[in-house]
Amino acid sequence: MIFDTHTHLDDERFAEDREALLQKIKAAGVSPVMAVAADRDGCHAAVQLAADNDFIYAAVGYHPDAAQKMTEEDLALIEDLAKRPKVKAIGEIGLDYHWPEDTDKPAQNLWFRRQMALADRLRLPVIIHSRDATADTLAVLREFPNVTGVMHCFAGSTHTMKEVLSLGYYVALGGVVTFKNARVAKEVAQCAPLDRLLVETDCPYLAPEPHRGKRNDPTLIHYVCREIAALRGDTPERIAAATRENGLRLFDIEA
Ligand code: NI
Repeated sequence: MIFDTHTHLDDERFAEDREALLQKIKAAGVSPVMAVAADRDGCHAAVQLAADNDFIYAAVGYHPDAAQKMTEEDLALIEDLAKRPKVKAIGEIGLDYHWPEDTDKPAQNLWFRRQMALADRLRLPVIIHSRDATADTLAVLREFPNVTGVMHCFAGSTHTMKEVLSLGYYVALGGVVTFKNARVAKEVAQCAPLDRLLVETDCPYLAPEPHRGKRNDPTLIHYVCREIAALRGDTPERIAAATRENGLRLFDIEA
């Protein structure tokens, strides 16, 4: 079985066949699955998906895009939902400087810290989104030494990976590792310690080869395990088992 640690199954691209897909995910041996929120609607949807499906768990939080416009009311909503059963993390939260003209750095940093402080208080792990913001993200993580979590869709160098690991975090790899030109992700797959590695789809985004460019879903995650196994000279079964074990440990989920 494989643990898909990052999905957006509430996305409108699943509107037409969500129920059928949920059955297929279970049948494909992908369990559990983490439903990760990115904004207010996503928080409600993730909690609902977890309530309705035994193999789904939820993370609640605001992605930096949405966090830029956050209010105290939004933070209170996250705190309220975080106390529901099967909510196992705060996320996805972090910094995204990819589109400078749309980026409000002070607001992103403020609400990232506030959500980190909430995770600290609630003793929940965090799911971190960091894009073109490595130094600032690491600075915030260092401010919260009691918080641990995962660097989702890790796109950093092996040097950054070592820093992240030293802070107690895990690194998650997804479809990108299967892309031909993804030299850095392949390097990370080769040298990450097996007890700190997670796998994820980030569906509907980032479908692995040979489905690149199409809608992604959790049933495709075996391509990620297969690629990591090939890069490490290991078996897909061992990668699946180890990354699942890691995810259960990090998110405090009973097998
Ligand atoms: Ni995501």
